[in-house]
Amino acid sequence: MGSASAIPAHVAIIMDGNGRWARRRMMPRSYGHKKGVEAVRRAIAFFARSGVSRLTLFAFSSENWQRPRDEVSSLMSLFVSSLQKNTDELDEKGIRIRFIGDRSAFPEALRAQIEHSEAQTRGNERMTLNIAANYGGRWDILQAARALAADCRNGRLQPDAIDETAFESRLCMPDSGPVDLFIRTGGERRISNFLLWQSAYAELYFCDVLWPDFDEAAMQQALDDYAGRQRRFGKTGEQLAEAATLPED
Ligand code: IPE
Ligand code: IPE
Ligand code: MG
Repeated sequence: MGSASAIPAHVAIIMDGNGRWARRRMMPRSYGHKKGVEAVRRAIAFFARSGVSRLTLFAFSSENWQRPRDEVSSLMSLFVSSLQKNTDELDEKGIRIRFIGDRSAFPEALRAQIEHSEAQTRGNERMTLNIAANYGGRWDILQAARALAADCRNGRLQPDAIDETAFESRLCMPDSGPVDLFIRTGGERRISNFLLWQSAYAELYFCDVLWPDFDEAAMQQALDDYAGRQRRFGKTGEQLAEAATLPED
């Protein structure tokens, strides 16, 4: 048993493998994305039940615009219809939905639906679901840097006062805190410009399961793996063992 608190507070997932899942079945990639939505529903329910309080899902990267036009437009339609279908249920389950990323590039119908889903679920506290769409980790850091620069220019902030707290408060989801468990399905071992700042000390978990097949057993395996890790944050294992035996104040 490691020293990580057994359940991660913040889980982030790169949901990869929809296209390959579909191609293996001689189906179009868009069919894989559709099946991927079922896996999203399963993951939200599972992690909420497990006591995870923030779940951040990578749905569309700033680089994904480079995909064939018909795949991009079928993804946009799928985002709208999935939000339409699922917002009420998420709301009833106490889940707050928030989008992170540059939404200005999205079609109007999607922007409106995002705003509606966010507004409807704003007061919910059981779990925050952050959906990263047209998101890039470098973009997030750059927009925070721009906000800091603007505040310095207008005199609200002194450059010397820029610390991690000031920087973090200008990132996309300042209230979701650092990522504890970072999962990528689909077999690739890379971060693909996801939450760069927020994942600085995340436990990384890569698995070969393609996203539409990421079921409860596979999710539980990720949690079990996490629970067995020792998060040292620069300290030694001995220091952590010693701290664990001291009585709490
Ligand atoms: C992830 O699955 C979903 C999105 C990027 C929208 P992919 O579509 O990347 O699936 P593969 O990697 O091609 O199998
Ligand atoms: C990353 O998946 C983005 C999402 C899952 C939305 P990709 O499949 O686009 O990643 P790369 O480009 O292959 O690393
Ligand atoms: Mg992929």
